[in-house]
Amino acid sequence: MGLPSRLRALWLVCLPILVLAQHQTHASSESASVSATTAVAVSSPVSTASTISSALPVSSTLSASLSASISSSATLSSAASNSTSLNPTPNASSGDIPTPFPSAGSTVPRLRAPVVPFNFTSFPVPSQSPIPGVFVSTDPSQPPEVFNGTTGEAPVIPSFQEAWDTAFDKAKSLLAGFSLQEKVDIATGVGWMGGRCVGNIAANEDKGFPGLCLEDSPIGVRYGDFVTAFPTGISAAATWNRALIRLRGLLMGREHVGKGVNIALGPMMNMGRIAQGGRNWEGFGGDPFLAGEAAYETILGMQEAGVQGCAKHYINNEQEHKRTTTSSFLDDRTQHEIYAHPFMRSVMAGVASVMCSYNLINQTYACENDKTINDILKREFGFRGYVMSDWSATESTFGSVASGLDMTMPGDINFGDGLSYFGRNLTASVQSGTIPETRVDDMATRIIAAWYLLHQDDPSFPAVNFNAFHIDDDATNERVDVQADHFKLVREMGSAGIVLLKNENSTLPLTGSERAILIAGLDAAPQPGGPNQFSDQGGNEGIMAMGWGSGTTNFPYLISPYEAIQARAKQNRTTMVDWTFANFDLNRARNAAARKDVALVFINADSGEGYITVDGNEGDRKNLTSWHGGDALVNAVASVNPNTVVVVHSVGPLILEPWIDNPNVKAVLWAGASGQEAGNSAVDVLYGDYNPTGRLPYTIARRPEDYSAQLMSQGGANSAQILSIPYEEGLLIDYRWFDAKNITPRYEFGFGLSYTTFDYSDLSITAISSDDGDDSDAISRWESGQATLIEEGSSTAPWLHRPAFKVTFTVTNTGSVTGGEVPQLYLVHPSSSGEPPLVLKGFTNVDNLTPNESTEVTIFLSRYDVSFWDTEAQGWRRPGGDLGEVGVVVGASSRDARLRGSLPSL
Ligand SMILES: *[C@@H]1O[C@H](CO)[C@@H](O)[C@H](O)[C@H]1NC(C)=O
Ligand SMILES: *[C@@H]1O[C@H](CO)[C@@H](O)[C@H](O)[C@H]1NC(C)=O
Ligand SMILES: *[C@@H]1O[C@H](CO)[C@@H](O)[C@H](O)[C@H]1NC(C)=O
Ligand SMILES: *[C@@H]1O[C@H](CO)[C@@H](O)[C@H](O)[C@H]1NC(C)=O
Ligand SMILES: *[C@@H]1O[C@H](CO)[C@@H](O)[C@H](O)[C@H]1NC(C)=O
Ligand SMILES: *[C@@H]1O[C@H](CO)[C@@H](O)[C@H](O)[C@H]1NC(C)=O
Ligand SMILES: *[C@@H]1O[C@H](CO)[C@@H](O)[C@H](O)[C@H]1NC(C)=O
Ligand SMILES: *[C@@H]1O[C@H](CO)[C@@H](O)[C@H](O)[C@H]1NC(C)=O
Repeated sequence: MGLPSRLRALWLVCLPILVLAQHQTHASSESASVSATTAVAVSSPVSTASTISSALPVSSTLSASLSASISSSATLSSAASNSTSLNPTPNASSGDIPTPFPSAGSTVPRLRAPVVPFNFTSFPVPSQSPIPGVFVSTDPSQPPEVFNGTTGEAPVIPSFQEAWDTAFDKAKSLLAGFSLQEKVDIATGVGWMGGRCVGNIAANEDKGFPGLCLEDSPIGVRYGDFVTAFPTGISAAATWNRALIRLRGLLMGREHVGKGVNIALGPMMNMGRIAQGGRNWEGFGGDPFLAGEAAYETILGMQEAGVQGCAKHYINNEQEHKRTTTSSFLDDRTQHEIYAHPFMRSVMAGVASVMCSYNLINQTYACENDKTINDILKREFGFRGYVMSDWSATESTFGSVASGLDMTMPGDINFGDGLSYFGRNLTASVQSGTIPETRVDDMATRIIAAWYLLHQDDPSFPAVNFNAFHIDDDATNERVDVQADHFKLVREMGSAGIVLLKNENSTLPLTGSERAILIAGLDAAPQPGGPNQFSDQGGNEGIMAMGWGSGTTNFPYLISPYEAIQARAKQNRTTMVDWTFANFDLNRARNAAARKDVALVFINADSGEGYITVDGNEGDRKNLTSWHGGDALVNAVASVNPNTVVVVHSVGPLILEPWIDNPNVKAVLWAGASGQEAGNSAVDVLYGDYNPTGRLPYTIARRPEDYSAQLMSQGGANSAQILSIPYEEGLLIDYRWFDAKNITPRYEFGFGLSYTTFDYSDLSITAISSDDGDDSDAISRWESGQATLIEEGSSTAPWLHRPAFKVTFTVTNTGSVTGGEVPQLYLVHPSSSGEPPLVLKGFTNVDNLTPNESTEVTIFLSRYDVSFWDTEAQGWRRPGGDLGEVGVVVGASSRDARLRGSLPSL
């Protein structure tokens, strides 16, 4: 489909007028309450040449009913809904299907029609045949081994096409006997709190379909008991360790399956464009390659366990303030290279579902955005699963269905109102001829196929055995313990995600010979009201081990640094462990810190989802400084103790300038938000039981204004307007901005120290020759500098992603203790390509290298990795000129280049 130029042309024709509906909801779900106002983009009807035959304009009545206030006392009527009230059987005799459409000439504002004529065919026509040894036909239950840069073996790229084909065949035969209404039910959630999970698709017992349970979160089973609170996404990303990230996905997946969850609502892969972004901790940091690898491994792990992954929030949902009334404006190249990339990697991991977000993109809601859903996700990436709305993010019937939305969640328009844009409205739209039934077939088929893809039709798949909204109801919550020994991974990964930022004179690790230790700071303490004292973790009193909002779990227990340090110090007969958690009592802190061999100061910063405000932080952080007077506490302790060690638990970057150069602050550990074993994870690094390997997944600046983009919390004059967020920095997010603008950060992206040191040598870069078979034409085109063709699945084509270049080098441990390194590969494009100065395109882990030991490391690059998005041609293209002009930098961070070379000329 030659969409782009036509899209642009149509776009100009139908610039939407923005009209508002008061849109009031309550409580929390995946993404909880859509508070305040929600805008609906409307325009004059656009007549298109599509096969949508009906001339019926689509409308939103925007009536007072939308603003009716919702009772907040909605309760769960039955354990698991067995029919949906949103799509009751029409009374055939009276034929009284309510029509949602106004009569002709109505003055009611009309919803935007899709800007592109759309045939409602199922994307894609699978054209990606497996290639033995490279692109291997794979079932989600048996993903390829984690790529390991120390074996020299090229990564295997899984092809899920045959598994999808089989699943589609099964889905089609199951659905053959479904009525229109039954198919619509597959696409319509039962309504907020209408079942045991945060989202529910009703069972159809007659047809042998048990329904679907959709449950948060990206770090475990939200609202479950006897579940593990895993390290957060940002701590997972800070490990830069594919094997640990895969394992985390697998274990989280097993917990979801053990509770009977079909779809786990994660991972989250928004890009942390704004340092203060409230949900950044759920995601994987500020670089698309790193976030893409983390998303890929997480999904492979989750789906190996048998739960459907859900890549979210698609797309450009980068801040919490006004998230339902902000429109992100960005160019197509930035969209492809930065924001969409982790979603593309999710599709390559065989992800079953994608969640569209609350915000608008170019004035069109994410859940009715033809360009992002139909064109980029389904056509270009070849996504064969289904797109669900974020909770209450659906804004229309026709516009959404035409633009590719396949499932509305939790089903109702506003939580608990019993109305839906799908349900009866969708059934009626098909009956009136506005929406072809083939599109509803497509929606239902995608959803049921995903269920088969993960083998959830197997009788051994557990039934839902918990009750998200009523955890204390013994009748519906069976208290199944799914934790197994997952705490071991949590503890190890928590340590692996800790970044050693500063370590003067080898102050760390602690030797065990310390006689007196001070623990200072509220962040070291257990929470006084218990680990789950705040609903959805919406508070900050004690150790910060996850942010707040729907991306949380209950803690089964929570090890604070205070407990962990005392237990560890006792092993070495440390004769005194003192503490103070009174952050504002600086006299007490100074008195306690004097004459201690080491003073460990714990500080933190927290954030979360916008439906909860904590200490004036409305989801997004209101500043980039530490909470509870942490900076003053550090300086007070350091004023008397020359061995001050600061441990920071933080959801994102902080400005460290108030104390980072204080000569008494000898060491700093960046400890992220690491889950239920937070105290043990920190202690293992403090005492050197774990030699740190974590690397920053974002840049720590010297000043807030050094970042490429700032939170927009004001603007839009009044709440009745859409606030525009121009992504003026384009490709230059995070380190790309600092590099391009020559701004010195405090700690750069990719930075992290070890208790040992490493040397890099012997760089070699070669092209890989392969038997290209059917792909040789595509490869010749690419080599001659032409963009990829516009085809279904064109961005995920095997020839584009198979290893094309091999980069090898040697890493040697030059220090005195065993340790691991994270070699990073950055490309330096010729300036004519318009790329940022450096772009991360590879990394791997070298584990457990003993002193003086060397190992050869291999990183592979694909043609995709060396391409950029050509907006004009709508394809991936290599930089112009000689490929040998593309520089390769291998180093220990984005600013610590150790080896330089270039790609081989073609
Ligand atoms: C299904 O509906 C019936 C009738 O409303 C109700 O009695 C039953 O409890 C429901 N089953 C479940 C599993 O909710
Ligand atoms: C719709 O399908 C027809 C027939 O297959 C095809 O000719 C046309 O190009 C398609 N339109 C779009 C926008 O894909
Ligand atoms: C890579 O494989 C080697 C040999 O099998 C193993 O020792 C090492 O731990 C692996 N590294 C990673 C990061 O998985
Ligand atoms: C938004 O507009 C820009 C500029 O016209 C365009 O490059 C981009 O593709 C558009 N994105 C979407 C999702 O419509
Ligand atoms: C159908 O959608 C409209 C908004 O377009 C809404 O006002 C109406 O209540 C919905 N009808 C039902 C039965 O849910
Ligand atoms: C570290 O030790 C060296 C020599 O042992 C000394 O000169 C230097 O001042 C020390 N640095 C700090 C920050 O204490
Ligand atoms: C401290 O305790 C650990 C664990 O028991 C032990 O391995 C280490 O040797 C001890 N160090 C000292 C200095 O006692
Ligand atoms: C930043 O926000 C935190 C958390 O609300 C607060 O404790 C702190 O005082 C604020 N810092 C400044 C400088 O306002």
